[in-house]
Amino acid sequence: MSQSARSYWDPLWAAGRRYRQLSDAEIALLAGHLSPGRGRPALDIGCGDGGLARHLHHRLGYHTTGIDSAPTAITLAASQDAAPGHGPEWRCMDITTDALGTLPHPAYAVITCRLVYRWLDDKPAFLDRVRQLLAPGGTFWVVTEVVGRRTVADPCERLGITANEAETLTAGWSVTHTADLDVLRCYALRP
Ligand SMILES: C[S@@+](CC[C@H](N)C(=O)[O-])C[C@H]1O[C@@H](n2cnc3c(N)ncnc32)[C@H](O)[C@@H]1O
Repeated sequence: MSQSARSYWDPLWAAGRRYRQLSDAEIALLAGHLSPGRGRPALDIGCGDGGLARHLHHRLGYHTTGIDSAPTAITLAASQDAAPGHGPEWRCMDITTDALGTLPHPAYAVITCRLVYRWLDDKPAFLDRVRQLLAPGGTFWVVTEVVGRRTVADPCERLGITANEAETLTAGWSVTHTADLDVLRCYALRP
């Protein structure tokens, strides 16, 4: 993807495009890999309209920040809070280019990235940024489609990551757990 993330994604959100919701199976996998939040900070990268960030915040007890480069997605996410200040913090931010020091916390017990990793051009640089933000003992939770899992052909574009892209994702962590959900793979990575 050569154009900026914002110029690619914002028109899609504005045109009404929406993405796969969290399922009960995905929620159960997440609960099995994360300990209770107890108010610790979590960061959801590419939060979209905020379903996973709200789940981390309200159900798992993390003090959650959701960031997305698409202003329309952030507006949609914030519009679903019961009242201002009663949900995750929402920030319009490009994780690949914006200063990490503008985030509300210097380190996060959990960082999540759902249906986003595939779209990032410079994956090693992105992973370096994640490592800078992950607290010691923290968990990086990634959900992504992997190639070769669809029984029906991908209609228009490659949605899954390749074996090489998966290797880039999983290299260098002390703990790597994976779990499969139909065409998706979930990764729990620890430094
Ligand atoms: C397929 S959507 C997934 C949204 C959400 N995570 C979900 O599971 O429904 C991908 C999201 O990643 C965001 N995104 C892509 N590149 C980004 C970047 N460099 N920085 C921040 N957000 C990004 C897009 O704006 C879009 O909202």
